This record gives sequence, structure tokens and C-alpha cells, in this order.
Amino acid sequence: MIILGIESSCDETAAAIVQNGNKVLSSVVQSQDLVHEKYGGIVPELASRNHIGNIFSVLNRAISDSNISLADIDGVAATYGPGLIGSLLVGLTMAKAVAFSANKKFIGVHHIEGHLHASHLQFPNGQFPSIGLVVSGGHTTLYKLKQRGCYEILGQTKDDAAGEAFDKGAKTLGLKFPGGPEIDRLAQKGDPSFHAFPRSQMPKFDFSFSGLKTSLAIYKKKYGTRHLENICASYQSAIVDMLVDKTLNAAQAHKVKSITVCGGVARNSALRKRFKTECEIRKLELYIPEAEFCTDNAVMIALAGYEKLKSGLSSPWSLAPKAYIPLLN
Ligand code: KG4
Ligand code: ZN
Repeated sequence: MIILGIESSCDETAAAIVQNGNKVLSSVVQSQDLVHEKYGGIVPELASRNHIGNIFSVLNRAISDSNISLADIDGVAATYGPGLIGSLLVGLTMAKAVAFSANKKFIGVHHIEGHLHASHLQFPNGQFPSIGLVVSGGHTTLYKLKQRGCYEILGQTKDDAAGEAFDKGAKTLGLKFPGGPEIDRLAQKGDPSFHAFPRSQMPKFDFSFSGLKTSLAIYKKKYGTRHLENICASYQSAIVDMLVDKTLNAAQAHKVKSITVCGGVARNSALRKRFKTECEIRKLELYIPEAEFCTDNAVMIALAGYEKLKSGLSSPWSLAPKAYIPLLN
């Protein structure tokens, strides 16, 4: 079964073609970082306009890279939410148009379900139940993954997402957007014990990052940014500690043998290293996608769409984009 996946929920325009849920025939991601960089954050109107400008060339490249034709495709999967409505509309409408005109099946995919499927590429026989940590620019949520496609929310952030904590923290420090990769890069040369930024103590499996963000702003006002690498390492270390500690607690409380980490922040080198070490000590299996499949991409959408289409599901042509939508199984 060959699936074309399309993703446009935020500022990445992406298309991918995946065979049998395990072989990537092509994957194209067109970033808009340069468009939004000067505003220090994503401007929704610009994001939708740029998706329109990019979507045809992204789709064309995905088809030509795959060495197959549209006629060989069995179904089209596209993100329908959550995300920016204007952005979602572009990819979703394109996916419907392609599926309708080529007489293929069509399925809408929840963006977070896509992220949670990304690790299946490298770990097709991953163990369930697993504790799933989704850490992106818009989400920080802990799930119990009972089996593929079956999720229970254990906790989530009560304010900012971990990606926002990285991006807004970077903005405070005068770094370019998106700030996550910048802090990661600078922190590699810094000392994480340089300054003890606060770790929030939220009940159970919830998270909070706004106190940490404020603490960085106060620090900067008092001391400036002279030891930038050390500040980045210390700030990053607080985020990593909060994410890893809660995830390990959840794994222990729910007696699972594996941990799944996904979303853009799962690219973070300190987070990956820490999870690897802790999982080795606790004899837990760790499923983290390769870096390119952590940030938004269309392979993950094709993988999630494949599972649904294979089980006989499809979406109506009237499927509308949704800004907010819970992940239900
Ligand atoms: O999953 P994603 O591409 O988009 C959303 O669905 O939100 O995640 C984007 C987020 C941004 O906040 C970005 O700063 C963060 O992922 N990110 C990182 C790194 N690479 C991307 N955060 C920390 N370290 C990184 N290396
Ligand atoms: Zn995402």
C-alpha cells in the first residue's frame, strides 16, 4: 500500500510517499524559518500564504523523488488539526483534490498522532504499552500508548509547551528563531551547573514552563548575557530535567517497559542523551525517531494514515480543519 502524506499545520510545507508503512520513497520538507525569523515567531497569515506558494513544488518533488506516479498511490493522508486554520486548509485541500481527481482514498490525520507514529519507522516492533512524550512547539503531553492508535492522556503542560520555552527563552537571550536549535548548539559548549534555574513541581504528570521563562528574563535583567553558553546549558538542563523526570515517573507508575519520545524538541541533543542514559540504567526500551522525523514532516502523516486506511477507515470530503482537537482513540 503506497500512501502520499501531506503536512501543513504550522510553518513547514511537507509531502512524502511511504510504502507499506515502512519504506520511505520520498520526503520533502520546505521550511519557512527565513520568512518568520525577523518577527521572532510564526505569523499565521504569512504561513498560509507561503504554504500556497510552496505546496505545488513540494508535492512535485515528492512524486519525482519517489520514482512512482500518482496512479501507483493507494491513498492520500493529510493533517486536519490541530494547527493554524489557514495553514491546515492548504495541505488538506490539496490532499483532497489529489485524492478526488485520481480516485484514491482520503484520510485526515491528527497531527499529534502523526508525531507518535514517527518512531515506527525505526522501531516497527516496538513494545506496548509505552509511555509517550510529545514535545513540540505547541504541545507537551504525556500519553500512555496502550497499542498502536490507542492513547490515554496522563498529563500535559498547564501553560507553555517545551518548544515555546526554548523559543521564547532564546528570544529573551537575543537568539534567532526558532530558538530550540540555537540553545541546543550553544549549550553544547556550556556548563549546565552554571546557574540553577527552577524546576516546576506540578502535580502528577503535568508540566509548567512559564516560571522558568520568567526566571530567565529576571536573570538576564540582573546579569546580562555575558556567559551565553553557560546560560543556555543551564536553562536547557532545567527543561530536560522536567521532561525526563516526569516521563520516568510515568513509566514506573504504569509499569511499562518502553518510552516513546517525539516532536520537534525530541531533536534536542541533551534530551536524547539523558533519555538514552536513564533508559539504559532502568532497562527500558527507548523509541526516538531520527532527527529529521522529529520536527514536522509528512512521513509521520503517511505512517499514521496508512494504519487507518489499512484498517478500513477513510474520511469524508467534507472533513474540515480544526485548530484544537483532542487526540482520541
Ligand atoms: O514538532 P515541531 O516541528 O512543530 C510543532 O508541531 O510545534 O516542533 C517545533 C519545535 C520548535 O519549538 C523548535 O524550537 C523545537 O521544536 N526544536 C528544538 C530543537 N529542534 C527543534 N528544541 C530544542 N532543541 C532542538 N535541537
Ligand atoms: Zn508538530
